[in-house]
Amino acid sequence: MSTHGADGPADHSSAASAHHRAEHTGREFTGSYWEQRYHDGNSASEPEANAHVVAELSALSPGTALDAGCGEGAVSIWLAERGWQVTAVDIAATAVSRGRERAIRAGTEIAARIDWHAADLTQWDAGVERFDLVCACYVHPVDSNDALFDRLAAAVAPGGTLFIVGHAPGDHHSAAHSDSAHVHVTAAEIAAGLDPQHWDIRRTETRTRSAIRPDGASITMQDSVFRAQRR
Ligand SMILES: C[S@@+](CC[C@H](N)C(=O)[O-])C[C@H]1O[C@@H](n2cnc3c(N)ncnc32)[C@H](O)[C@@H]1O
Repeated sequence: MSTHGADGPADHSSAASAHHRAEHTGREFTGSYWEQRYHDGNSASEPEANAHVVAELSALSPGTALDAGCGEGAVSIWLAERGWQVTAVDIAATAVSRGRERAIRAGTEIAARIDWHAADLTQWDAGVERFDLVCACYVHPVDSNDALFDRLAAAVAPGGTLFIVGHAPGDHHSAAHSDSAHVHVTAAEIAAGLDPQHWDIRRTETRTRSAIRPDGASITMQDSVFRAQRR
């Protein structure tokens, strides 16, 4: 992803701080913020499928997938190319529209496998146990992450996968532009929100990732990578 959209203080790292962070209200990350950003041509999305997605999800058998906060559709198209039937949702209509156009350019078969929705995931009905894969990369709504992650987890079908990538608390590149306290999340915090009776936690890691800033500088990001399978 481009590195100029992620934002928030980088000084919280323990699981105990999750509740504290959830009480903060970010001021920036409204639907109009994201829409404006895409509208201005200042993309918030990665041009290619996220490296963690490729590393973690390539081996899964295709089924139905929700790409939550799909941006301009790189992950949705990557999944569709692998045979997934994708529901792609983003709050920014401009991003969704670009994703749809991009999918059409990728080919009729790919485009036919993706349903695009411009919607706020904190309101949009993702359903219950509906998708074989629910994937969210760097989605941090205005309010608590917890409520969104609960909705996303509920939408995973039995045997299905919940995959979340976020900005790790130590990632100073994503800390630069915001006062939003919950832009960062640890994989352990995400895991703590799931009932261990119903989930097998497969991955909770902080990983680095190379990225190119809009000014061309090469940087290393720190990401939280979380993967779990519903029993
Ligand atoms: C940092 S971008 C990441 C985009 C994409 N997942 C990627 O990794 O390239 C965050 C995306 O989440 C979307 N988003 C933020 N809050 C949202 C919400 N409440 N509902 C739906 N999408 C949201 C934004 O519009 C934006 O496209």
